[in-house]
Amino acid sequence: MKSIKGIMEERLLKKVMQVLKAAGEVAEGMGYSAYLVGGLVRDILLDVENLDVDMTVEGEGIAFAKKLAQRLSGRVKGQTRFGTAIVTFRGGFKVDVATARQEHYERPAALPTVEASSIREDQFRRDFTINAMAIKLNPGEFGKLIDFFGGERDLRRRVVRALHDGSFIDDPTRIFRAVRFSERYQFKIDEWTKDLIKQATNLAMFDKLTIERVRDELVLILSEKNPVRAIKKMAELHELKFIHQGIKLNKQLRKVLGNLEEVLNWFRSSFPKEKCEQWLIYFSALLHGLTLKEARATCQRFHLSRKDEEKVIKSKEGASRKRRELGKEKLSPSQIYHQLEKLPLESLLVVMARADRIVRERISLYLRELRSIRLKVTGDDLKELGLKPGPQFAKLLKKTLIAKLDGSLKTKRDELNYVKMNISKILSKA
Ligand code: CTP
Repeated sequence: MKSIKGIMEERLLKKVMQVLKAAGEVAEGMGYSAYLVGGLVRDILLDVENLDVDMTVEGEGIAFAKKLAQRLSGRVKGQTRFGTAIVTFRGGFKVDVATARQEHYERPAALPTVEASSIREDQFRRDFTINAMAIKLNPGEFGKLIDFFGGERDLRRRVVRALHDGSFIDDPTRIFRAVRFSERYQFKIDEWTKDLIKQATNLAMFDKLTIERVRDELVLILSEKNPVRAIKKMAELHELKFIHQGIKLNKQLRKVLGNLEEVLNWFRSSFPKEKCEQWLIYFSALLHGLTLKEARATCQRFHLSRKDEEKVIKSKEGASRKRRELGKEKLSPSQIYHQLEKLPLESLLVVMARADRIVRERISLYLRELRSIRLKVTGDDLKELGLKPGPQFAKLLKKTLIAKLDGSLKTKRDELNYVKMNISKILSKA
C-alpha cells in the first residue's frame, strides 16, 4: 500500500482537494470510512485529466452526503434507496456518493450490521483491475491506495484485466468497455480476459436496459479518438455481431472506415468550429452492408432517437441514391445544392466516404460554399414590390436562390432585378 497524497496534491485542482479532504473529515466524524473510487483513481495514477469524482462510503452514504453538503454549502440531489446521491457545489462541480455496504442480519428483524470488509466487496464488483482501486480519504490515512486486485501493477504493465470469470456475464456492457479502455490508453487486453469476452459474446443476454447501456458504451467507444482501431478490436473479439449479425469487417467496410477517417480529418481542418457527431457517423458506416430494413431495425433495437435514426437511414439511402445522382457528368451548382440540402451533416460525411472522387468534390463544394449562400433580398423586399405572402413568394425566392447559386446574381440589385423580371412568370403560373 502506497501513499499517493503528494501526487494528488500536485495533480488535482485545489477545489477538488478541498472537497476530498472535507469528505475524509466528515466520514471520520461519523465513524465511517470514505474512499475515492473508479476512474479518477486510475487517471490520477496515469496522470490523465478526469473530473468525475466518485466516492464510496462504508456507512450510510446518504447521511454522509448530507453532512458533506452542509459542511461545504453544497446540495444533495438524486438520492436512491441504494444509498447513492450526488452532492453539487457552486460552480457546477459535483461528487457522486455511493454506499459500500454488505449488510447482514444477526437475527431476523435485527438492524443490519455493516461489514468492515465492504470496500473490498465494492471493488470486487467492478469491471477491471485498473478500475478497481480506491484511495482512502480519512485524515491520517488520506492518500492511501487500496488495491486488492493488482490494479496498480496492471497499470504499469498496461493491461486491461477482468476481476473474475463471471465479469462479462454479470454485465455484458463490459465486453465493450474492455475495448474502450484498451484503445483509450493503448493497453493490451490480457489473454484470459479476451477468452472470457469471446465466451461471453456467445452467452450474454441483452434485455432492454442492458441494450441501452450497451448503446451508451458504443457511443462512447465511437466517440473516442481512434474509433477505427476500436472497431477492428471489436471485430477481433467477435463483438460486432451484437450490433447486428450481418456486420462483417470485410474489405469493403475497411475501405469505408479508412475513407471516413480521411473525410473527418478534412472536415475538422476545414471547419474547426463546426461540430458533428462522430459516433453516429461510424455507427452509420458499420451498418453499411445491411439492408435499409435491417439498419432501421438495428437503430430501433438500440433505442436511438428518431432524429439519430433518420441520420443513419439518410446516410444509407444517400450513399446509394445521391452517389448516382451526383455522379452525373454535368451538374450545375444549384443541382448539387438541390441533391444535398436535405441531408444532415453526418449523413453527408458518410456519403462522402463512400463516394468516388467526382462526388466527393461536389459534396466538398457544397460544404465549403453552396450551403452558406443566402439571398440578400428578403420577404419585405418582395412585399414592397407589391407581392402578397403566399406560395408564390417561396417559389420566387427559391428561383432567385437557384440563379444566385449558379453564379448569375452578385449584388442585391441583381437579385431585385431578377425578382422583378420573374414576378409575372411566377404569378401567371400560380
Ligand atoms: N463500472 C463497472 N462496470 C461497469 C461500469 C462501471 O465496474 N459496467 C465501475 C468501474 O469501476 C468504473 C466506475 O464504475 O471505473 C465508473 O464508471 P464510468 O464512469 O462508466 O467509468 P470510468 O472508469 O469513470 O471511465 P470514464 O473515464 O470513461 O468516465
